[in-house]
Amino acid sequence: MADLDGLKDGKDYGIGTPVQEQPFFLKGSNHLDWGMQNRLSRLFNPKSGRTVMLAFDHGYFQGPTTGLERIDLTIAPLMPYADVLMCTRGALRTSVDPALGKPVALRCSAGQSILTELSNEYISVEMEEALRLNASALAAQIYIGAEHEHQSIKNVTKLIDAGTRYGIPTLAVTGVGKDMARDARYFGLATRIAAEIGAHFVKTYFVEKAFETVTHGCPVPVVIAGGKKIPELDALTMAYRGIDQGAAGVDMGRNIFQSDSPKAMIQAVGAVVHELMRPERAFEMYQDLKAQGA
Ligand code: 5RP
Repeated sequence: MADLDGLKDGKDYGIGTPVQEQPFFLKGSNHLDWGMQNRLSRLFNPKSGRTVMLAFDHGYFQGPTTGLERIDLTIAPLMPYADVLMCTRGALRTSVDPALGKPVALRCSAGQSILTELSNEYISVEMEEALRLNASALAAQIYIGAEHEHQSIKNVTKLIDAGTRYGIPTLAVTGVGKDMARDARYFGLATRIAAEIGAHFVKTYFVEKAFETVTHGCPVPVVIAGGKKIPELDALTMAYRGIDQGAAGVDMGRNIFQSDSPKAMIQAVGAVVHELMRPERAFEMYQDLKAQGA
């Protein structure tokens, strides 16, 4: 029988004190449901409002690319420094320790390879499987201007609808159509389409000119991909400029795992993203950590 002795009536109802309600910290996400906001708070650091996503999903169409030959040896030591892991379910099950507790942005598209047309993708992961893997976000490419533009938009909208049913946000990745110029106009178009169809955040590339028009024209957070390997100082400068012009973080792969010192690099990228550390200072940090054997 329940113990009902000694129950006291409530006294302090804070009469006259309005309920404290904070706007949600992420752009465009204020009206999302609790589960969606909770997952976004795992993906983006609520203090800085930004994220360092470690991307190592390249193998789903590129095979064992440089630095990803053995994910267990090269990527696992970097995982503690990342805010989010972006990978396929194959990499997750074989090479990521479930006890690590890092949120996962799950690559949910496939269907092509570097030998065929890149935009020819389909949704390769069922919602039930994403739930089983405890994904914090679902990810697929939209290829604006490419041969399979229509199908790729359909893929992303299907993920958004399925994820919304269960409170899981969708990351739309802007894959570049073959004949499209990589400029602010193109990425402005692609990121805006992604947000308008309902993506909760969007990954795109940094461009030298007018990148702030891309971030400001997109009503949800934009994260930048690293792209092909460039010198460390240049990659840190790109990250800095991207953040300074409104990006909410990076989803970086090759410029971290193909660095001379990946562990030092991911920490330096983290300082740029979360503290807006100047690139020259972050490069010194990278060199110090590298010299210490990071
Ligand atoms: C592959 C991807 C990668 O995650 C993305 O390109 C990020 O990696 P990198 O920084 O190496 O460009 O979406 O399709």
